[in-house]
Amino acid sequence: MSYVTLARVEEISPGQTRMVQVGSCLILLVNDLGEFYALQGLCGHQNLPLTGSKVWQGVLDCPWHHFQYDLRTGENLYPKRIYPLNALPKLREQISSLRTYPVQIVDGKVQVRVPESCELG
Ligand code: FES
Repeated sequence: MSYVTLARVEEISPGQTRMVQVGSCLILLVNDLGEFYALQGLCGHQNLPLTGSKVWQGVLDCPWHHFQYDLRTGENLYPKRIYPLNALPKLREQISSLRTYPVQIVDGKVQVRVPESCELG
């Protein structure tokens, strides 16, 4: 795995996202109050693109059905932490975490460590 430059810091304002295609992978870049994150670009619910997601205080809210994810870990926060999933097996089947990718900022560039499986595309 190697770090790849996917944007410049000033191209993604706080609270904004940007979808980037890297080989075979869609990666969502996120600026949350100046902290940058990179997550898989397709929602864990129905595999729809996370373009246009709302971002606030470490949380990503999918625009389709508002599943919410922890930006740092990709863990599903809603509905996982709200509903008793043991009693709702159909809902439990629809919940999965988002993959996250390490990010570094170098000379104003947003660099993401992209897995080889993406680069080989
Ligand atoms: S596709 Fe994201 S919440 Fe349904």
